[in-house]
Amino acid sequence: MPLLLKEVDPEVDFPSLARCVLEAYEEPLQSFIYLFFAPMHGSNARSREVAIDEAAERLKLWHTSDPTSFWQKVVDTDTGRIVGGAAWNIYMSNPFVEPHAVEVSWYPDDGSRAYVEKALESYARPRYMAAQRAHVYLFNVFAHPDYRRKGIGQQVMDWGMKKADDLGLELFLDATPLGKPLYKKNGLVCIEENVTGLERKHAGEGDNDKWNEMVVAIGSFSFCLMTLPIGGKCRDT
Ligand SMILES: CC(C)(COP(=O)(O)OP(=O)(O)OC[C@H]1O[C@@H](n2cnc3c(N)ncnc32)[C@H](O)[C@@H]1OP(=O)(O)O)[C@@H](O)C(=O)NCCC(=O)NCCS
Repeated sequence: MPLLLKEVDPEVDFPSLARCVLEAYEEPLQSFIYLFFAPMHGSNARSREVAIDEAAERLKLWHTSDPTSFWQKVVDTDTGRIVGGAAWNIYMSNPFVEPHAVEVSWYPDDGSRAYVEKALESYARPRYMAAQRAHVYLFNVFAHPDYRRKGIGQQVMDWGMKKADDLGLELFLDATPLGKPLYKKNGLVCIEENVTGLERKHAGEGDNDKWNEMVVAIGSFSFCLMTLPIGGKCRDT
């Protein structure tokens, strides 16, 4: 199964990419992925398909309206199936000059949306603090569970580290526990561990029940802000 890394075709690839992202983060389950796919309360197959369709449209829009965005797909050339990929941002200047809160339009306007906004703010905070300058950012890398440990992640890292080196920029990413071994192998170092665990609110008041449903569905999650300094590898600590 030769696995080929290519730039995406935004007109056709996002439905397959969105499905592959979701399947990658569900095995093993990393429930923060439901911050990006909604509503996903597990049992209803139809709502899952609706959520994948919505995410595909939104990811396409985010990509096509953002000149810093670069998406890749990994194709199993025996079958033509998309089995992995990545999303990068290449920032040639400080992306945080203007405040930029994400509008969480994919959740209803109730406590669930408020929860997702707060959780995404917490997730983004370390990079906001540490990367106020031009840099290359790996927003997402994913390999379908059937295609793990076959070099998809490494192909993506090879591309991104070369890009950062060619541009003379630092590389940043927010690592999941599952992604960390790949990044450590490539010489990235951890700057900050970031655990998000939002508290329940008083039941029965306003939108609090919807907020509390999200607290239960997502639980706490952790990322590690990692970097590769300009010029390549540095020693792991
Ligand atoms: C993280 C992920 C993308 C890695 O993709 P992959 O294609 O399986 O990784 P590779 O085959 O390229 O691995 C390259 C090297 O990274 C390290 N590595 C990757 N996954 C590892 C794991 N689960 N445990 C230990 N080391 C691992 C190994 O050193 C590996 O080399 P080796 O197989 O020769 O030992 C994949 O596990 C995934 O999609 N996880 C779910 C989504 C996710 O958490 N993404 C990370 C977002 S920050």
